Amino acid sequence: MPRVFSGIQPTGDLHLGNLLGAVRNWVQDQHDADSFYCIVDLHALTVPKAPGEVGAFSLEMAQTLLACGLDPDVCTLFVQSHVSEHAELAWLVQCVTAMGELNRMTQFKDKSARQGGKQDLVSVGLYTYPALQAADILLYDTDRVPVGEDQRQHIELTRDVAERFNARYGETFVLPEATIPRAGARVMDLQEPTDKMSKSATSDAGVVYLMDDLAVTAKKFKRAVTDSDGTVAFDPVAKPGVSNLLSILGAATGRSPEDLADEYSQYGPLKVDTADAVVALLEPIQARFRELVEDPAATNELLAIGAEKARAVAADVYDRAVRNVGLLPRPVL
Ligand code: TYM
Repeated sequence: MPRVFSGIQPTGDLHLGNLLGAVRNWVQDQHDADSFYCIVDLHALTVPKAPGEVGAFSLEMAQTLLACGLDPDVCTLFVQSHVSEHAELAWLVQCVTAMGELNRMTQFKDKSARQGGKQDLVSVGLYTYPALQAADILLYDTDRVPVGEDQRQHIELTRDVAERFNARYGETFVLPEATIPRAGARVMDLQEPTDKMSKSATSDAGVVYLMDDLAVTAKKFKRAVTDSDGTVAFDPVAKPGVSNLLSILGAATGRSPEDLADEYSQYGPLKVDTADAVVALLEPIQARFRELVEDPAATNELLAIGAEKARAVAADVYDRAVRNVGLLPRPVL
């Protein structure tokens, strides 16, 4: 069975981009691959957080992922900080990563710009973030990484540093590949359709959160920005708003956006059908989530089992890396 690994930051509510770009594919992959899904709480700390915030969001993220259909009997769901090898391997990875490579990471440029680009505010953790992400992936001898389009550059960096490590210290890491879905890889903001849908958007009006009241969800689609040209066509450059609706409807129904475009002549019905398809997707997720939040201890127990299963793999790969680097073996204490 191929090994699959992916991660998500516990930074509050999941949105439709996370679901269509990544999590839905995780749910599928768990049946045909040995799958590890990680709530990357250490990554969340790279921008300032209030005490306790990341822990609370990690539990909520676990409940949300379970509600979306992750089944802990067939996949491994765990929290990054529960497996200390992530932070330890990240150091070894940082030592084979060039500053030039990190300088080129577009996510770092975007996120540091959002903090005003001020060197006194932007953390070193935000800068070295991709090295920790590479460590996450490499620790599991990962073959495939299901992610949205925005993570492609980080997976390419992971391959580059793994190759460099292997060349310097001998065969250690498996080279992973990104798997990016055909539909839903880049869900755009409903109000600013040239920007990707993101938790850090300045307004919530264009972001569809999984746990939004479903009447609010329908309204967000009704008010989605389109254009004044009046024809339905799939052309993300010339018609970003309409194309985004077609992509979302396509991802939600398993149809191609181009085929769907042929079936509509007006924007109104396209908005209504897209809203209905998304509401149908979210309804059962919300119902299951409401059940799960009633019993947080049950989710914490699942996360403990997940951490145990993850550590069993991660410890072996980390030992292999340390052995190949040739550090003096740790004394048995
Ligand atoms: P994060 O938490 O920002 O997003 C989680 C997943 O959701 C996808 N995604 C989207 N897909 C389509 N359209 C969108 N608008 C959209 N917004 C987000 C992301 O591509 C991602 O797959 N750096 C990662 C977390 C991470 C990770 C890892 C991922 C840490 N270690 C190891 C894979 C493997 C991140 O910030 O994802």
